[in-house]
Amino acid sequence: MDLIPAPVAVEGLAPDGFLLDRSTTLYAAPGTETTERWLRSMVGPALGLQLLPGDERAKNSVALHIDDALEPEAYKLGVVRSQGIEIRGGSAAGVFWGAQTLRQLLGPDAFRRAPVHSDKKWVIPFTEIEDSPRFPWRGMMLDVARHFLPKDDVLRYLDLLAAHKLNVFHFHLTDDQGWRIEITRYPRLTEVGSWRSRTKHGHRASELWDETPHGGYYTQDDIREIVAYAAERHIRVVPEIDIPGHSQAAIAAYPELGNTDVIDTTTLSVWDTWGINANVLAPTDNTLRFFEGVLEEVLDLFPAATSPFIHIGGDECRKDQWKESPAAQARIEEFGLANEDELQSWVIRHFDTWLTARGRRLIGWDEILEGGLPAGAAVSSWRGYGGGIAAAEAGHDVVMCPEQHVYLDHRQDGGADEPMPIGFVRTLEDVYRFEPVPPGLSEEAARHILGTQANVWTEVMQNRARVDYQVFPRLAAFAEVAWSPLPASAERDFTDFERRMTTHYARLDALGVDYRPPSGPLPRQQRPGVLGRPLEGPPPNV
Ligand code: ACM
Repeated sequence: MDLIPAPVAVEGLAPDGFLLDRSTTLYAAPGTETTERWLRSMVGPALGLQLLPGDERAKNSVALHIDDALEPEAYKLGVVRSQGIEIRGGSAAGVFWGAQTLRQLLGPDAFRRAPVHSDKKWVIPFTEIEDSPRFPWRGMMLDVARHFLPKDDVLRYLDLLAAHKLNVFHFHLTDDQGWRIEITRYPRLTEVGSWRSRTKHGHRASELWDETPHGGYYTQDDIREIVAYAAERHIRVVPEIDIPGHSQAAIAAYPELGNTDVIDTTTLSVWDTWGINANVLAPTDNTLRFFEGVLEEVLDLFPAATSPFIHIGGDECRKDQWKESPAAQARIEEFGLANEDELQSWVIRHFDTWLTARGRRLIGWDEILEGGLPAGAAVSSWRGYGGGIAAAEAGHDVVMCPEQHVYLDHRQDGGADEPMPIGFVRTLEDVYRFEPVPPGLSEEAARHILGTQANVWTEVMQNRARVDYQVFPRLAAFAEVAWSPLPASAERDFTDFERRMTTHYARLDALGVDYRPPSGPLPRQQRPGVLGRPLEGPPPNV
């Protein structure tokens, strides 16, 4: 069956099976409508079957049920002789993950958008599968600021996450190089902040420029559509508005947000190259009010039910300008802070209080630990395990996403053909062997590891094809890390995973994913002559 991610338990696999045909019906018990709609709209067309509404007791049917005895995201999938297929889930989400397994059981052609063989027999082996996720947070972060991905590509990624039973989409919407979300009260954020006139091609040390103006943004209706599309697939969206660093696009749009007593911020434009930028927000009341206004609209667009967490970045905020700024120094004095790091912490605390008062939880990159973190805030541990360990030991919830392991912008092979090679070599096997819970963590602290996410930074991913290449096949390995139980030996069986991948590549082909083939990049996937920044040796185990 070659399921990916591997389920917890499979029983009674028989050589023969159940045949889905034109008379197979679909029964959806109350509460399972998302899966009913998904099966009819996404799987039915591939099979060439309508899956007409059927009776609960029909013999030749797919039946969907909620089963309160199961954990919310758990499911049982039974394919039985007398009945057909039954999926029971602990909640609507569990049923949906069961349906993802069902599509895999149908074979790679079930991942297409239309049937390719009119006489194809859709047979599923008689079996019983019991399954549930290891972690409640199974995510992918997509950076649409460095390179904008049109809305359709974002929706497609939500489908790809769902196909891998991933349930968190961390949406990196703002950065120095672009502001991607319409904020109606501040129109210049997108009028000015979503466009740049040219772009560094390759790593920042590259001498190449792409002189094509680049940019774009999601209207508020686009955002609502993305959020609704994700919710229909049981994916939570974590919007990220990155402050107080990574903000040059916002400052280019509204120069008063920057440190105007240090530099002439009216000369700034949306950044056209990569790196850690000295142009950061001024820690003034005006800036705080401005971002409260931004977040008011963000909270409106991302409802609490599906976006309990709001990400406020907090990473890589250079303090050069705050050191020189009389206004920033006056703030440090006013609040009795020790230094600029504490000033950053003060800004983060401000928004933690603000979000908490509105029923949301703040999450930020692990730099937000510096200077102390308010009780309910959570941490994305990216600079290694260290921040996550410290946060979990202090009782904060943690998402493990160390750059040394699950940054999918890092190159996936050491070969010379790897396009724009960045960072450490992180092969499919390396990602497969990534363990989100570091050894030695106390049981109590381990409970704070909500899960893990793979991060996709797009400085050298100019379009969907480049994103696909970096993300796949490694996201399939990551999905198994996030979903499947760790064997008692604590060693995952990569040989078996690789064997199952031969079927999974066919699924990805059917989905039209432009993955990196095991044999290396296709000629059109190579980028000869475009400078990357490969780091040598194994990544430090931090
Ligand atoms: C990050 O990679 N700067 C979170």
